[in-house]
Amino acid sequence: MNSRKELINHSLMTGKIDQYQEGKRDVTFRVFRFNPQVDSKPYFDDYTISAERGITVLRSLNYIKEHVDATLSFRAFCQAGICGSCGMRVNGISKLACTSQVWDELDKCREPGIIKVEPLRSLPMIKDLIVDMDPLVDKMTRYSNWIETTMPLPDIGKKEFLISEEEFHKYDKATDCILCASCVSECSILRANKEYVSPAVLLKSYRMNVDSRDALHDVRLSELVKDHGVWDCTHCYRCQESCVKSIPIMEAIHAIREDALECRGPKDTSGAKHAEAFMEDIEKKGKLVEATLPIRTNGMVWTLRNLLPMAMKMIVKRRTPPPPPLVKSAKGIKIFRAMFREMSEHVKQDHQKSQKK
Ligand code: SF4
Ligand code: SF4
Ligand code: FES
Repeated sequence: MNSRKELINHSLMTGKIDQYQEGKRDVTFRVFRFNPQVDSKPYFDDYTISAERGITVLRSLNYIKEHVDATLSFRAFCQAGICGSCGMRVNGISKLACTSQVWDELDKCREPGIIKVEPLRSLPMIKDLIVDMDPLVDKMTRYSNWIETTMPLPDIGKKEFLISEEEFHKYDKATDCILCASCVSECSILRANKEYVSPAVLLKSYRMNVDSRDALHDVRLSELVKDHGVWDCTHCYRCQESCVKSIPIMEAIHAIREDALECRGPKDTSGAKHAEAFMEDIEKKGKLVEATLPIRTNGMVWTLRNLLPMAMKMIVKRRTPPPPPLVKSAKGIKIFRAMFREMSEHVKQDHQKSQKK
């Protein structure tokens, strides 16, 4: 039902006025409220306003603040998707309020006509829709998310520091990041572990690390491969799916991992060792040799210290995984191995191509 004529016919037949035809309608915003100075716990306030077609969520919140409830607090500045300050969750998804159309959001409401607005997750709450960005800034500091120039001191300010167009394309997309923290709010690991580096900081770190003018590559990389760093990412892709600038964040994460394996070797961190052991098992047997995976990942001492009690319980319940000699190869392993090698070759070639871009 695309044309205007079809829409009118549809309304005449059903007797309903389709929301797409309406210029104005009543919309309820169910907004998260919490003022730590007076509230013992968070709650939601409903604000129903007459919203015009074309209005954004941010403009609606501005209207509510100006005409209905001056105590409502949120952060916004440019109103044009540039500054990144209006990140919030609208109907359960982290996004920019200033680029979210109310009419589009009405299609995504769990309860018809009610748009739910909440603060971003995984960052401390300050008031209502405002979250504290300091933990993110602290991580940017920890992972040296800036360029330290390799230009000799006497040349600074006197010479241009040129890069090739080829190099620029490696981080062109990454420079679009406006630090809105939508990806941070959607990251599944961060919700479980606040220490995790975060997708936004991984993206920034990648952007700095592929810049030939930068002197901190090794320092940054050594920090990225530590606990809570790049190896903790589970590849769930939620950050990329929610990025308000459609930045391929996962490409950056993969590139950091490849860089770590190339520069520091596979024996560097438990994450790298786990990935190596995993790939080795899959190539050899087509399945995991679970009994030795923790030892190959974290070493004998760590395994004994951390997993012995669990191993004892498993022995008592006769639920231990079989020892390596008893793990039979999966059916059709020869065909599988050929496919595995072909796939590895493709990944290698893709990587080489992306390096050349
Ligand atoms: S892919 Fe990694 S960084 Fe992105 S949301 Fe998932 S765990 Fe977080
Ligand atoms: S990567 Fe995307 S979602 Fe994450 S902070 Fe940057 S612009 Fe926002
Ligand atoms: S107000 Fe600046 S991005 Fe929304």
